[in-house]
Amino acid sequence: MSKKILVSGIKPTGNLHLGNYFGAIKQFVEMQNSGNFDSFVFLADYHALNSISNREEMKKLSFDLICAYLAAGLDPKKVTLYRQSTLPEHTELTWIFNTLVTMPWLQRAHAFKDAEANDKEINVGTFDYPVLMAADILMYDASVVPVGQDQKQHVEMAREIARKFNQTFGEAFIEPKELIKEEVAVVPGTDGQKMSKSYKNVIPLFGSEEEIKKAVMGIVTDSKLPEDAKNPEEVIVYQIYKLLATEEERSQMEEGLKKGGLGYGEAKKMLLEKILAYFGPMKENYDELQKNPEKVFAILEEGEKKVKLLAQEKMLKVKKLIGLV
Ligand code: TRP
Repeated sequence: MSKKILVSGIKPTGNLHLGNYFGAIKQFVEMQNSGNFDSFVFLADYHALNSISNREEMKKLSFDLICAYLAAGLDPKKVTLYRQSTLPEHTELTWIFNTLVTMPWLQRAHAFKDAEANDKEINVGTFDYPVLMAADILMYDASVVPVGQDQKQHVEMAREIARKFNQTFGEAFIEPKELIKEEVAVVPGTDGQKMSKSYKNVIPLFGSEEEIKKAVMGIVTDSKLPEDAKNPEEVIVYQIYKLLATEEERSQMEEGLKKGGLGYGEAKKMLLEKILAYFGPMKENYDELQKNPEKVFAILEEGEKKVKLLAQEKMLKVKKLIGLV
């Protein structure tokens, strides 16, 4: 039986942190290794252009993101990797879809409504975001689209666009389904809120030892003394530690906190060591890739050659159905 086609876009965000790793990157690698999918993973740089308008930032964030995914184990032999912007077929298909959807329908998108509620000046690209996303997905006949809950509606919209096109011009697209990532661990930041760049509470994924140490030592604690009994559920250091530690290590820290005897300083040291050991090999890969951009670009170009053929084939079919060729 042929494998299910999986398509997913990743937006460059910058300053990758432990939350990105446990919230997204790790699962991509696991899905790849499951062998259940024929996976297409791409850099959604045209989507990012809605919020990045600086050349250096665009270049750096894009490159760093690809390096991070590769360093974390995304394997170009198992996954097709490419940049959205190298395939004009995506924007071409977006235009065709634009003629099938209405303004009130697009105004229903949460992302648009949120932007509007925040009183932002919304650019047309942001308004059209779900249509470009539909093109990304439908182009390759994806049946599975792994996304966070916030993107569920966009996949529903892609489904509706597929249906609309098929009804109007004839069968060309498969209706995709979202694969909502299971309750992934919410990684707490150094202040206990969800780890997020915008809260400035992150532990950097590929930072220097000094940077990581500084973040770990800055994790918020209360004023209990080492000998005091503590509730592990309230100890941020422990909440992060348990994502990385073996079961034995985890229960050791849990016991030490519960019974008393394990102070916060000591627990932070344990966490720091664990982070350095866990991400050390990935960091080496990452640094290696950063030093060899030509390697990274060669990987992308190979992926792009492959998807280009599929995209051209799909566009020819679409254009025939429409009556353009
Ligand atoms: N909108 C997605 C996000 O913000 C990124 C994305 C763009 C995407 N195109 C896609 C995800 C196609 C899945 C499929 O995370």
